[in-house]
Amino acid sequence: MDRIAIIGGARLQGEIPISGAKNSAIKLMAASLLTDEPLRLTNMPRLADTRFLGKLLRRLGTEVVESDGPDGAETLLTTPEIISGFAPYDLVRQMRASFNVLGPLLARNGQAKVSLPGGCTIGARPVDLHLKALEALGAKIDLHEGYVYAQAPRGLKGAVIDFPFNSVGATEHAMLAAVLAQGDTVLENAAAEPELADLADCLNAMGAKVTGAGTRTIHIKGVGRLSGATHSVIPDRIETGTYAVAAAMAGGEVRLTRTRTDFIQALLDKMVEAGVEVIPHNDGLTIKRNGGRLQAVEVTTDPYPGFATDLQAQFMALMTLADGESVFRETIFENRFMHAPELGRLGADISVHGGEARVKGVASLEGAQVMATDLRASVSLVIAGLAAGGETIVNRVYHLDRGFERLEEKLGACGAQVRRLKGDGDEEVE
Ligand code: UD1
Repeated sequence: MDRIAIIGGARLQGEIPISGAKNSAIKLMAASLLTDEPLRLTNMPRLADTRFLGKLLRRLGTEVVESDGPDGAETLLTTPEIISGFAPYDLVRQMRASFNVLGPLLARNGQAKVSLPGGCTIGARPVDLHLKALEALGAKIDLHEGYVYAQAPRGLKGAVIDFPFNSVGATEHAMLAAVLAQGDTVLENAAAEPELADLADCLNAMGAKVTGAGTRTIHIKGVGRLSGATHSVIPDRIETGTYAVAAAMAGGEVRLTRTRTDFIQALLDKMVEAGVEVIPHNDGLTIKRNGGRLQAVEVTTDPYPGFATDLQAQFMALMTLADGESVFRETIFENRFMHAPELGRLGADISVHGGEARVKGVASLEGAQVMATDLRASVSLVIAGLAAGGETIVNRVYHLDRGFERLEEKLGACGAQVRRLKGDGDEEVE
């Protein structure tokens, strides 16, 4: 199993181009099941998660061709027909979002058998809202032995779906199914993350009629069929925020390009409050920090446009060295402080009580062996390692490979001493 070794202390100087958004790309790939024509996705990230989904889609009947184009990596997806409506446990468990093939399979094929998902170990993460939305659209759902059996032999029908709280996955799933339903669908209390608007833009380019995506109410007029399209994936806001925090942690000056500041405004507000200099420009932003200790600030995670739960671990790494005590309240997922004890191994002073973590800033961190527990937690350990004395070794980096493209290369280009240690599976420590 690969590990990442970081020698802390180097200031960062340079430019990091941001990749296309993982969380958008995988839903856009699933949208290709809705048409028999080719869907060309540009600005695609190349990640373990997109590979997992490509593998599943091939099994369902999609031809997946990857290439390089003028707008970065491209993926061309064509599904002349659905050859199987079966998404097996082995493929779905590797990535929770693969569950979102259920809606498109139902919409196009009238039936599907899809394994209940796995995904990061950050709390229970049920799919009840996904299933209720599909039922509201007229699907008959049965659960047996870890599988969802769904049927809609006469097609899906538009409905009003009022979500009890904002769920990104359930809103996307309902949208993916409702675009081909008969009649109108209204999604109330929908998730408003930028990935929702990106999915709607792509579906509309394919001929769907979706309005209001990116707000709490989404209207969808069902259409009889969708066509092919070309769509550019939005920049990854979590990757943007992660490198912004990394630059602040290490100190120096880093320009993040091919991205948008408005996607991470809540994070940037907190960084400025803590004492980091943030300079927005046309195609991204520059992060500057030249000496001086940061101030501790409080953070509460919230649905977009609030502070993203996917940036909480990274910001906590930054606060381990701040002056004073910062408080983190996690409102989206239970069990999402698994990075706290690992940061503690580097010398951080963090106490966790339920959904709240208190971080008392310390004067310095010291490199150690640490364990990645989930995707975002693992990158927080890399960030901490950038400022820790000596060497930090992050084990189980497969979590990192799910969501960060060429991390060592991108940080290394700015002067960070980060390298990958190839492993053979038995040498995992602890
Ligand atoms: C997506 C993102 C993830 C991010 C999260 C919140 C992808 C692939 N992943 O995950 O990186 O952290 O949004 O911004 O896009 N819930 C239920 N029942 C459901 C569905 C969700 O109770 O049927 C709960 C979840 O357990 C969680 C909350 O709703 O507590 C929000 O989850 P949701 O927004 O659905 O997150 P994901 O789509 O899984």
